Amino acid sequence: MKRCSKVIGTGGYLPETVRTNEDISKLVDTTDEWIVERTGIKTRRIAGPEESAASMAEIAALQAIEMSGTEAGEIDLIIVATGSPDRVYPSTACMLQHRLEIQNCVSFDIQAACSGSIFALSIADQYIKSGAADKVLIVGTEICSRLIDWTDRGTCILFGDGAGAVLLDSSDTFGILSTHIHSDGAFEDLLYCPNPQVATDSNINEKGFITMKGNEVFKVAVNTLGRIVDETLAANGLDKSDIDWLVPHQANTRIIAATARKLKMSMDQVVLTLENQGNTSSASVLLALNEAVRDGRIKRGQLILLEAFGAGFTWGSALIKY
Ligand code: UT7
Repeated sequence: MKRCSKVIGTGGYLPETVRTNEDISKLVDTTDEWIVERTGIKTRRIAGPEESAASMAEIAALQAIEMSGTEAGEIDLIIVATGSPDRVYPSTACMLQHRLEIQNCVSFDIQAACSGSIFALSIADQYIKSGAADKVLIVGTEICSRLIDWTDRGTCILFGDGAGAVLLDSSDTFGILSTHIHSDGAFEDLLYCPNPQVATDSNINEKGFITMKGNEVFKVAVNTLGRIVDETLAANGLDKSDIDWLVPHQANTRIIAATARKLKMSMDQVVLTLENQGNTSSASVLLALNEAVRDGRIKRGQLILLEAFGAGFTWGSALIKY
């Protein structure tokens, strides 16, 4: 029988501090009404000074391990997706491996901005399918709030902090049916975050803040996500009506609604978390998956379409028979 990657555990962590639209309207010229109407976001979580990408990843990972009923020591591979690592190196994945007290596994980070968790799922699936690994832990963890210019109303309204995790195991029944990942570096200037410490003469004055031409990103995101939906369905010989749940990257309700319309899906079949989480970048898809698994919306045997779009540009999807 075909070997595939089955989801055996999910986890999620959101920091305690809530930042409302009202709070942000005291920092920049904006209103709760504008933010809700243009993005769908009402509140987001902000990590405390003691919290880090690794500490949040640990909490989410432990939840996923506990749900799976397995031991951390059985994990063969840890992939962490983050654009806000605690250190340039070692990787957040290595720091997580140490926190989980696992000696015999391999750990590395990947960087695909908001598409990070989908890219990680795709890599993990190749490892499992090829027989190179059985249990793979994936975590998306982000402290976006520390990469935000809190005087820039075009970005500070959007992002939040959190971590999501999923534990995969090899299975001969069902699991990931396909993954599809893409990138195009031509769009670098529309969405980027500089690293001032390693700047060249040409960008020496840039600060380490997320910089975005929001409206242009928006248009490319809507078109690209529409295409990835078609690609995923075609690769599996499926029809739109076969999908039970859409678990999208949580960037903007209007982008998500456009993808749902493309799939002819009601918004009741879409897992939405951004209202109270904002855009948690690489954590968002896994946080949404965790929420819908834990509250019982997503059930074994259902078809789940995960998708994301982010800086790079990067974009991708994963179709899972849960
Ligand atoms: O996760 C990675 C991918 N990221 C995304 O997918 C984000 C995609 N972009 C977006 O979600 C939206 O473009 C935003 C929410 C960032 C902005 O919404 P928009 O509808 O595209 O607005 P806009 O940038 O076209 O701006 C429209 C107007 C402008 O004013 P004028 O020029 O029409 O007078 C902006 O200055 O809205 C103004 N504006 C604001 N007004 C109040 C921009 N930001 C704000 C704000 N509050 N926070």
